[in-house]
Amino acid sequence: MALEPEEPEIVTIRDGTVLYVRRVHRTDKPHFEKGFAKLSRESRYFRFLADRKELTEADLTYLTEVDFDQHYAIVAFTRDENDDIIGVGVARYVRLPGRPDAAEVAVTVADDYQRRGVGTMLYDRLLAAARAAGITVLRSDIHFENRGIRELLERAAPATVIGREGVVVTLELKI
Ligand SMILES: CC(C)(COP(=O)(O)OP(=O)(O)OC[C@H]1O[C@@H](n2cnc3c(N)ncnc32)[C@H](O)[C@@H]1OP(=O)(O)O)[C@@H](O)C(=O)NCCC(=O)NCCS
Repeated sequence: MALEPEEPEIVTIRDGTVLYVRRVHRTDKPHFEKGFAKLSRESRYFRFLADRKELTEADLTYLTEVDFDQHYAIVAFTRDENDDIIGVGVARYVRLPGRPDAAEVAVTVADDYQRRGVGTMLYDRLLAAARAAGITVLRSDIHFENRGIRELLERAAPATVIGREGVVVTLELKI
């Protein structure tokens, strides 16, 4: 893993807003904490499929200290007037145990940035990284009412429902 965060890519989303995108870094923990605190209850619930009030230290370590082989994650962010990072979105995949060709995928975008193309922009980059790493199947456990993530995932390929438990539907798609 890189010792310092890499130089971010500068990306302009469809409404002209400029964002920065790079791999997640261990120093992103405070940004994850703040970003999570600002998420709406629905977005938190859709992401974690549970009524989570905050991220624990263990969560923050898991989410930010990734090896970019089994677990790959990128972040989009902007900067405030003090040049401090404001998290805007994150996309990640985690390889499934014993399935080197398959990975679980998750994408989260800050509420005030949703429906502005950030999810698509991150997902495109995640897809490229996953394909380059030999991943051909993506899986995601989603809330059955989460139309947004389903539409987003299916921008790559049609998804098949491979399981359902309560409100959680497991989708799989070939990329
Ligand atoms: C799902 C999520 C990542 C989508 O991110 P986004 O930045 O809003 O996505 P985009 O703006 O790129 O939208 C892509 C397309 O998805 C569909 N979409 C996105 N949000 C939608 C919603 N709430 N309802 C219906 N369709 C939606 C649309 O087709 C959209 O295209 P359009 O805006 O041109 O119509 C975002 O809503 C989010 O973070 N939700 C909370 C966390 C979550 O549910 N994560 C998924 C679990 S892993």
